[in-house]
Amino acid sequence: MSTILRRLSPSEATGLRTGARHSLAEHYRPADLIVLGLGVTIGAGIFSIAGRQAATTAGPGVILSFMIAGIACLLACLCYAELSSTMPTSGSAYTFTYVIFGEVWAWIIGWALILELQFAAAVVARAWGEIAVGALVNAGVRVPNPELVADVLVFVILVLLTGIVALNARVGLRALWVMVAAKLLAIGAVIVVGMSHIRVANFGDFYVPPKTLPTAPVTVLEMFFGEGQAFGWFGIFAAASAIAFAYIGFDVVATAAEETVNAPQAVPRGMIRSLVIATIIYIAVALVMVGMVSYTKISVEAPLASAFRAAGVGWMAHVIDAGAVLGLTTVILVLIVGQTRVLFSMARDGLIPRALAVVSRRYHTPSRVTLVIGAIAIVLAEFVPVLTLQELVVIGTLFAFGFVAAGVIVMRRRMPDLERGFRVPLSPLLPALSLLATLWLMVNLRVLTWAYFVLWMAFGLLVYLVYGRRHSLLARPRFPVEHMRGRHRR
Ligand code: ALA
Repeated sequence: MSTILRRLSPSEATGLRTGARHSLAEHYRPADLIVLGLGVTIGAGIFSIAGRQAATTAGPGVILSFMIAGIACLLACLCYAELSSTMPTSGSAYTFTYVIFGEVWAWIIGWALILELQFAAAVVARAWGEIAVGALVNAGVRVPNPELVADVLVFVILVLLTGIVALNARVGLRALWVMVAAKLLAIGAVIVVGMSHIRVANFGDFYVPPKTLPTAPVTVLEMFFGEGQAFGWFGIFAAASAIAFAYIGFDVVATAAEETVNAPQAVPRGMIRSLVIATIIYIAVALVMVGMVSYTKISVEAPLASAFRAAGVGWMAHVIDAGAVLGLTTVILVLIVGQTRVLFSMARDGLIPRALAVVSRRYHTPSRVTLVIGAIAIVLAEFVPVLTLQELVVIGTLFAFGFVAAGVIVMRRRMPDLERGFRVPLSPLLPALSLLATLWLMVNLRVLTWAYFVLWMAFGLLVYLVYGRRHSLLARPRFPVEHMRGRHRR
C-alpha cells in the first residue's frame, strides 16, 4: 500500500480507549453532551446570519432554507453517530477517515476541520465583539471608539475562554451549563413574545420571485445556469448553504467521545438530541422573525432586534443582546474545546508536532495545544476580516460531512461485523442521501469560497508532504503503541 494511504486499524484507533493511547479523563455524562451540543450550535447562525439571509437572499423562504439545511445536517448527524459509536475518539471525522480511507485523506479532513473549528472560533469571537459593543450602546453606555472597544473585548473573551479550556475542563463544563440555560431562556422569550406579534401577511407565499442580479453569477450552481440571482429557489438554496453555519456544532460533540462515559451509546444520543432541539428552535425563531415584520424591513446589522422594534416590542432588544452575548460565548468555548481535541489527535498520531499531544499532569487537559489554538484565534479575529469567511467554515465542515457519509457505506462493507453502538437506519440509502445533500449544499456556495478552499487544501497537502508523511507514527517500522503509554502524561 502506498505510504500516504496507510491506515490505522479500528483497534489502533479505539485502542485509545483501552489505555494504550488514551490519556484524557472521562468526565462527560449523556446530559453534558446535549449541553455541549446546544452550547456550540446555537449562536451567530440564529442571532445574525438567519436575518441577513432573510433580508438579502431568501425572504420568508428562509424558513424553508432552515428546513433544507436541517435535513441535510440530520442525515450527516446520523452518519457521525454511527462512526463515533464504533470509533469514539477525540479525532472525530479525522480519525474515522484515518481508519477508513488512509492517512493522506485523514490529513485532508483534519485540515478541513481546522478550517471549520479554528476559523469558526475566530468568526464567532469577532461577531461576539460586535454584538457586545451593540449591547453596551443599547444599554446606554457611551462607547467613543466602537472598533477599538470591540478589539479589546474580543481579545479579553478569547484569553478568558482559552484559559478556562486549558486549565480545567470541569470549571468549563459548569460554566457551560449555566450559560446554555440562560441562552435558552432568552431564545424562549424571543419565541414566546414573537409569536404574539406574528402577522400572517408577512409570510407572503414564502416564495419571493427571483431577482436577476446585475453582477456575475455568485454560486457554483448559478455559474452553471449562467446568471446570478437573489430570492427565488436559487436564493432559498443559497441561503440554506450559508445557514448550514448555524447547524455547525453537532459534529463537535463527536470530539468529546474519548472523554465520555459509555461513549458508544451516549455520543450518538447526545449528538442527535442536541441537533433535533436546535433545529426546532431555529425553525421557531425564523418563523417568528419573518412573521413579525416584512423581510424588507429586517436590518442586516441587528436582524432579530430590528424585527422586534418594527413590531413595537423594542425592549426585547435587551433580552436578545443578553442571549446573543451569552450564546456566542458558549459557541466559542466549545469550538476551542473541539479544535483542541482534533489537533491533539493529529499530534498524537505524529502528523503535527507530537509535543502538542502533551496532557498537562496538573490540569489533565491538553493545555499546550489549547494555548496555541487560543493564540491563533486571537490573531485571526483581530487581524483578518473573518466575518467575510463564514462560508469558508461551512465548506470545510461540509467536506468532512461528505467523507463521514461515504465512510459509513465503506465501513459497512469492509467490516460488517464491527460492533456498532448506533446504526444509521436504511443504510446505504440514508448515507448516500447524506452525501448528495452535502454536495448539493456545497454547489450552492460561492465560487470565491471554493477558490479559497482549494488554496487552503493545497497548502495543507504541502504541509503534509513536508512534515506529516515523515513524522507519522505509522511511518515508523513498527507502530510503537506501547511506548506511547505515559508519554502524554507529563
Ligand atoms: N453554529 C454556530 C453558530 O451559529 C457555529 O454560531
